[in-house]
This record gives sequence, C-alpha cells and structure tokens, in this order.
Amino acid sequence: MKNIKIGVLGAGTMGAGIAQVAAQSGHEVVLVDVNQVQLDKAKIALMKILDRMIEKGSLDDTGKTAIVGRMQFSTQVTDFKGSGLIIEAIVEKIEVKHLVFKEIEEIVGVDCIIASNTSSLSIASIGSVLKVPSRVIGIHFFNPAPLMPLVEIIPAVQTNTETLNTAKSIIDSWNKVTVVCKDTPGFIVNRVARPFYGEALRIYEEGIADFATIDWAMTELAGFRMGPFTLMDYIGNDINYTVTETVFAAFYYDPRFKPAFTQKRHMEAGFLGRKTARGFYDYSEGIALPAP
Ligand code: NAI
Repeated sequence: MKNIKIGVLGAGTMGAGIAQVAAQSGHEVVLVDVNQVQLDKAKIALMKILDRMIEKGSLDDTGKTAIVGRMQFSTQVTDFKGSGLIIEAIVEKIEVKHLVFKEIEEIVGVDCIIASNTSSLSIASIGSVLKVPSRVIGIHFFNPAPLMPLVEIIPAVQTNTETLNTAKSIIDSWNKVTVVCKDTPGFIVNRVARPFYGEALRIYEEGIADFATIDWAMTELAGFRMGPFTLMDYIGNDINYTVTETVFAAFYYDPRFKPAFTQKRHMEAGFLGRKTARGFYDYSEGIALPAP
C-alpha cells in the first residue's frame, strides 16, 4: 500500500490534514492548491504539528524529516502524474468539482482512483463527468482529519468492486476506521448531525436561549464534546451552511433539513468561525468569547 503515490487537491482545513495522514502512513504525497498562500499556510501548520509531536515524544527528528521529505506542495495538478489515489477536498460546489475531476482524469493513469471528500454532494454526479466512472468514490474524513478515526467510504452506483476494495484497504492501512455507506445526501454522520445544528439555530432564533447557553447546556449537562455553535464555528459557517442547503434540496425540501437565516447571514458577513477569527464567537483574543 505504501508504494502508492497519493494526490490531495485543496490545501484547506481538510486537504492539509488528509495529506498529513497519508504522509505519516508512509506514502509519497502531492498536495495541490490553486492558492500558493494556502499551500504556505498548510506547510507552516504541518511543521508546527510535527514539532508538537516531537515535544510530546510521539515522533523524533528522523521521523519528521521522513514525513516532510515525502510531501510535495504544488500549484500544478500535473504533479498528480503517477498517483494511485487522488482525494479532492476543494470548495463544496458541484460545478467546480466537475471541472477538476475532468482535469485530474487527463493527468493520471487509468488505474488511479479519483475520490472526493465531499460532505454532501452526490458521488454519482461527481463521477458522471469521468471517462472511466467506475474509479470514482467518496472518501469522507472528519475534521480534524489526523485525529478523527472515522472515515465514511461511499461507492457511487458507477463504482466497481475493485475501486471500493482498494480505497477501503488504503484508508484502513492509515489506522482509520472505515464505514461503507450508500451515496445519499449527508451520508451517515452529516445527516444525523443536521438536526443538531438546525434545532439549535431554531431554539436561538425563537429566543428560547442564547447560543452560548445552548452550547453550555449541551457540553456541561448533556455530555457533548462541543456545543452546536462552537462546532459550526469550528467546521466553518460557510461549509456548514452549504452542506445544510445541499441536504435540504437533495431531500426535496423536506422541512426537517431547512437551513437557518442566522447562519446564512453569518456566512454572508464573513463571520465564518475560527478560520476568520469571528463566527458566533469572537476568537481575536485567543479565546472564544460570545460575539455581540
Ligand atoms: P477550505 O475552504 O478550508 O479549503 C478549500 C481549499 O481548496 C482552499 O485552500 C482553496 O484554495 C482550494 N481550492 C478551491 N478551488 C480549487 C481548485 N479548483 N483547485 C485547487 N484548489 C482549489 O474547505 P474545507 O473545509 O477543507 O472543505 C473541503 C471539502 O471537504 C468540501 O467538499 C467539504 O464539504 C469537505 N469537508 C469539510 C469538512 C470541514 O469540517 N470543513 C469536514 C469533512 C468534509
């Protein structure tokens, strides 16, 4: 497995973490992003993570050098040449994913699996633009990818057994726990999670409690690791809202999945969460303070 070269498209929240996991698991990895600034940020963040691991004793200098040596940061999709698995983790927009899937297929060999980390889009639709659609699959990591054990593996109707088995074996070999599920909106976790965010937003909008109180009740009293507003800020209000919109439309506008104006306005205002230092909470002081 380790001799398979891995390509990751998108060096944002998810792509950078996925590339790190693959490199730590012994693969040559190419991380590609259109934005050089994003690649630089991903590289700096990776160095910090590896240094922290050295401090904690879970990695030594030789290990760090080996991991970094296996990673290539690039703005060119052509550097995917020779890869056995590509994992796309770019913006959650079907038309953009269609474009990059077509582009990737022109570069890689016929045996290369082309996967998407999409949270909510149809894998069948993403794969429909490929000349060899049996190589498409969903490989859905959770945030942060290096720490979260679960990975959903989603074969589309076009995916063949070989693609499914190979993709699953590769991810299993990365010390992840895989679950194979059907190509349906939100798969397992994001579908179950919709009401967690949706009802919390409705409780807030109805004036039943403020968002910090809802988070406090869910963490301190109900045993959740993060409250819904803290989690939306962590995921990114843009990504989280877009996923809700997609799931809502995909279920033929079932009111159970209706998105909330409050989150839409946060997204439009650029209050995306931790990544912009402002979401439902203000992070500019280095701690999460409820934003006015
Ligand atoms: P992000 O916004 O943090 O990063 C996206 C990256 O893709 C950016 O660096 C951007 O420059 C790059 N990009 C955009 N268009 C590109 C193109 N055509 N070619 C190359 N690079 C391009 O997004 P994030 O949060 O990492 O999400 C990526 C994907 O992962 C989405 O499909 C999302 O639904 C999914 N996902 C997100 C999770 C989260 O918690 N944020 C969790 C699991 C899946």
